[in-house]
Amino acid sequence: MSSQSIRRPARVRGALAAPGDKSISHRAVLLNAFAQGRASITGFVRAADCLSSARCVRALGVAVEVPDDPAAPVVVEGHGPEGWREPEDVLDCGNSGTTMRFLCGLLAGRPFFSVLTGDASLRRRPMARVAVPLRQMGAMIHGRGGDRQAPLAIRGGALRGIGYDLPVASAQVKSALLLAGLQADGPTTVRSPAPSRDHTERMLRAMGATVAGDGTELTVQPLTVPLRAVDVHVPGDVSSAAFWLVLGALHPNAELTVCGVGVNPTRTGVLDVLRAMGADVSVANEREVAGEPLADLTVRSARLRGTEIGGALIPRLIDEIPVLAVAAALAEGPTVIRDAAELRVKESDRIAALCHELARLGAAVAERPDGLVIGGVRRLHGAVCESHGDHRLAMALAVAGAVAEGETVVQGAEVAAVSYPGFWQDLERLCGGLR
Ligand code: S3P
Repeated sequence: MSSQSIRRPARVRGALAAPGDKSISHRAVLLNAFAQGRASITGFVRAADCLSSARCVRALGVAVEVPDDPAAPVVVEGHGPEGWREPEDVLDCGNSGTTMRFLCGLLAGRPFFSVLTGDASLRRRPMARVAVPLRQMGAMIHGRGGDRQAPLAIRGGALRGIGYDLPVASAQVKSALLLAGLQADGPTTVRSPAPSRDHTERMLRAMGATVAGDGTELTVQPLTVPLRAVDVHVPGDVSSAAFWLVLGALHPNAELTVCGVGVNPTRTGVLDVLRAMGADVSVANEREVAGEPLADLTVRSARLRGTEIGGALIPRLIDEIPVLAVAAALAEGPTVIRDAAELRVKESDRIAALCHELARLGAAVAERPDGLVIGGVRRLHGAVCESHGDHRLAMALAVAGAVAEGETVVQGAEVAAVSYPGFWQDLERLCGGLR
């Protein structure tokens, strides 16, 4: 386990490209592996999670090339669903919930046996949310803890189309059901309590699938011919850019630009909240690349005020709550985060972990069953903190350390590479050193 120490720099300046979007990188490799043809994926983030997706589809018989040079495209050579082969060994999804849940949906329709596992964190996470509806469609899925946790054993085969109401607005579960629906005998309809990220729908349509509806209700038709491979240009990850937006807003002498960030409206809740808090964030150079909107984002120092975060906003910023909690810790007035019980079943229990770690830095933070109440303080003080093996915790604490007084140490810092391999180098560059 490695530690990183951070001190507040005198100024924060610079421009950088955000690393490729993790959600879109997963979809680009998994869906193209299921499609027919050769696809070239530029901007694919070499994050541990996305490499898990690439490794798993390789074990299922698909040729995937991931050059070490991050500027070189990833190439996937798919032969349609029929090209998938029973894997010789257990499929290891590492820390990646997206890999495991998407593969559940894809493998539910494949007529062979497979076993999905992952690291200790992933093996604790809830999988009944995908297993229950996929079983209704006709797949056999068993797992630990009463079929609720990985390792999961799947025997796929003939599937029925179903109508299903998701209990939580989860893009991973929605996607798993759409992917199983492509292989069913009739239409599958998925209803969600609120809209969630729509990258799967966008990519499936570009590949020739029939997906009707949007927002809270989607219906997918079974494939009559395999999906068509599509080249993907992966935009910068707004979830990674969020760390720099909060750093730039909180630091008293900051101006930062993050270029080429994906600004799909299902992902930009963080921009809405930072603006509501009084942050100075400007959006320039808006364009659309390969079906996804992109922009350059510039942030400058500002005095933030507390806000309320809940309801339909939550799925639009679920992964950004750790760093927004850091913003709230230094805002004027209280911030209330509610309707976010999902945070308890992410890579760590993010509600408990944030409460514990931010308190070490001097924040006024209280835990609620479905969120946090954070009373803003004028300053944080450096402390020794722990990432809880959670990439977004590690990076949020690094941002807190870069605006706190004194030295902060983040233990378990290497876990940032799960979504953002160059995070610590980028932080060092923007801060002109970390000590
Ligand atoms: C993701 C969906 C979200 C998010 C995760 C990535 C995706 O999870 O937290 O980091 O790529 O679909 P849920 O679907 O569980 O909300």
